[in-house]
Amino acid sequence: MVKRDTSLPDLSGQRVLITGATGGLGQGISRRFAAAGARVAVHYRSSKAAALTLVEELREAGGEAEAVHADLSVPGSAEKLVALAVKKLGGLDGLVNNAGIQPLATLSEMTRAEWDAVFATNLGAVFELSQAAAAVMGEGDAARDPSSNRWITHVASIEASRPAAAHGHYAAAKAGLVMHARAAALELGEWGIRVNTVSPGLIDRPGLETEWAEGVESWRAHAPLGRMGTPEDIGNACVLLASAGASFITGQDLPVDGGMLVTPGW
Ligand SMILES: NC(=O)c1ccc[n+]([C@@H]2O[C@H](COP(=O)([O-])OP(=O)(O)OC[C@H]3O[C@@H](n4cnc5c(N)ncnc54)[C@H](OP(=O)(O)O)[C@@H]3O)[C@@H](O)[C@H]2O)c1
Repeated sequence: MVKRDTSLPDLSGQRVLITGATGGLGQGISRRFAAAGARVAVHYRSSKAAALTLVEELREAGGEAEAVHADLSVPGSAEKLVALAVKKLGGLDGLVNNAGIQPLATLSEMTRAEWDAVFATNLGAVFELSQAAAAVMGEGDAARDPSSNRWITHVASIEASRPAAAHGHYAAAKAGLVMHARAAALELGEWGIRVNTVSPGLIDRPGLETEWAEGVESWRAHAPLGRMGTPEDIGNACVLLASAGASFITGQDLPVDGGMLVTPGW
């Protein structure tokens, strides 16, 4: 068995699909779910080697992990991905919609193709994945058992409410994610499926400090907690929302931003 991190809620037995698990946040989210005892399907698109390395790491720590592939910009791929995860995990209790792209383009320069690409991956795929996952989670005995814990969490962004420059498509898609979760929560509550969003602030990654020194410095100066987030901070929040302790929480957005959203803009 995986060496459980007892500071985390116990998710033993949960079968969880995490999209974009090869990226910075996705790796941290996958590690925290595995440390909480969940069986995870780590999804990748192009980074197969990273996915296999992560699976190996999680298994070596005693966890249960499988790699699953899909290009989520392709319509219809979501249903196949959910089916693959169900096959590999033996069912599905939770879905973290984390995969996303974050290109920069100002309003004056943005092309329709760039706009569409962001919406296809960051929002369209989430709709399709949630639809497919809910169909699986809503069938069988679990759907009739009020104590069973089934959920979907989208990784949005604080840009859903506080947009950054050159991110009009991204911020609009993230705002859409927050509203999609609320609407889905409304519909899926009947089957006991909870839907929430986690909205990260600036999350650290290798190279960020040198690539964007002024942005990092400004973030640290303004965030009440005085630091950037880590992928594990986001993983911890997703684990929290997946836990039985969150069983009455649905349709909510949880900012995980070191307090940035409460800072005054003047
Ligand atoms: N980093 C931050 O500070 C921050 C802040 C707020 C919100 N977020 C959100 O957090 C999520 C993860 O961000 P990140 O910084 O970890 O990004 P990242 O390192 O660039 O990773 C992106 C992940 O998404 C996958 N992906 C991209 N396009 C895909 C597609 N068409 N089909 C399937 N998978 C695709 C990538 O897969 P492959 O590598 O295998 O191609 C990768 O696993 C995103 O939704 C992002 O908007 C990030």
